[in-house]
Amino acid sequence: MALTVSVIGIGYLGSVHAACMADLGHTVIAVDVDAEKIAALAGGHSPIYEPGLDELLARVLPTGRLTFTTELADAAAADVHFICVGTPQREGEPAADVSAVFAVGEGLAPYLRGDALVVGKSTVPVGTAAALRARMQQRAPEGVSVRLAWNPEFLQEGHAITDTVSPNRFVYGVDPRTRDADVALLDEVYAVPLSAGMPRIVTDYATAELVKVAANAFLATKISFINAMSEVCEAAGGDVVALADAIGADERIGRAFLGAGVGFGGGCLPKDIRAFMARAGELGADQALTFLREVDAINFRRRSRMVDLAREELGGSLRDRRVTVLGAAFKPDSDDVRDSPALDVAQACRSAGAKVVVHDPKAVGTARAAHPLLECTEDLEAALRGAEIVLLLTAWRQYRDMDPGWAVTLVETPTVVDGRNALDVGSWRAAGWRYRALGRPTI
Ligand code: UGA
Repeated sequence: MALTVSVIGIGYLGSVHAACMADLGHTVIAVDVDAEKIAALAGGHSPIYEPGLDELLARVLPTGRLTFTTELADAAAADVHFICVGTPQREGEPAADVSAVFAVGEGLAPYLRGDALVVGKSTVPVGTAAALRARMQQRAPEGVSVRLAWNPEFLQEGHAITDTVSPNRFVYGVDPRTRDADVALLDEVYAVPLSAGMPRIVTDYATAELVKVAANAFLATKISFINAMSEVCEAAGGDVVALADAIGADERIGRAFLGAGVGFGGGCLPKDIRAFMARAGELGADQALTFLREVDAINFRRRSRMVDLAREELGGSLRDRRVTVLGAAFKPDSDDVRDSPALDVAQACRSAGAKVVVHDPKAVGTARAAHPLLECTEDLEAALRGAEIVLLLTAWRQYRDMDPGWAVTLVETPTVVDGRNALDVGSWRAAGWRYRALGRPTI
């Protein structure tokens, strides 16, 4: 049965969730305090680059099932309210800032109907759901007992639409007092993907909150594990790509997320492992997660190693050397530059005196906003022209498909350092390039 749902917080998660819910047939009221963002989305333009999102908006907006507002009061009619606001890292601290989650919950509470279900999707420190429910209850209308569930989101930027409508699992963290009714209502929301056989796990608040951060901590650990192997390969003369293929063939290990390179960035993995450590410390379980400190440290060392490799290839100094950085986004198919390894390396080269030109097919706008002093362009030919070294830092298909025979005619010195192990070594070498990569032998 089609429901009326509100989606509060129209960032990465919320904008995709709102559009997907409308596509599933629900009536959606999307709420955000940012009037500009609302206006863009209502006009069919996604403020973020996410493959398929503009097309999805073009399909659902004419149905009238997706509307936008800046007023929480307009969401009062909804059967289900999704909280999708951000929980960034606190300024100067490892912990997450959950103030937006509480602000939205408390702002919504006075408008709650007795039968409405509030569903948290934001990534939060364990314990937030229980605290939020208590705070909402204090502000709810007389006679209304707040119903809250936690339903973490596992979407990956670049695949957000598929991950929302067909995730590999649903997790419902529910209140034991209203468990059956809450599960039934969430099942109605997700009736279409559930009918396709998606598994769902029903659990308590704490476990649901932990599932999300544990999953991201595991993924970060897997990436840092292979990057630690990369360091050892560099010391021993081994090849981390062949090593990853070989260990990844064991299905208990799996090849996914064993991509060695400049490591993880973005708005989730880095801040989530730090917030997880901080929360474990508050709970007295800090020893359990001290390994994540090492995961974070390995990740940062790869960025420094990339700068060192560039310096080494340029004969010991980056000063006044023309460096081309391919990629600004934290990963391909995204214009997100939050904690981007590519921009970090570009910035470090610039600080060391290099003349850096950054290319990205989609993230030039966000990169300029984050680092106004970095020279950024969407013109690949212009970016490559005159380069004394090329650093590949985001594995966009455009770079993987690039003809090395064409690129070699543009640069001053044909040296490429592949920071994502994304290029075909044979064809780049055959076209006359000196090819270096993280964790691979020099030859
Ligand atoms: C991550 C998780 O993968 C999602 O499941 C989760 O829902 C999301 O965070 C979130 O918490 O919202 P995302 O940040 O979109 O998704 O990006 P990932 O695809 O996980 O990539 C993270 C970083 O790791 C990127 O910088 C990527 O380049 C890097 N990475 C990934 C590697 O260095 N090696 C790999 O093998 C894979």
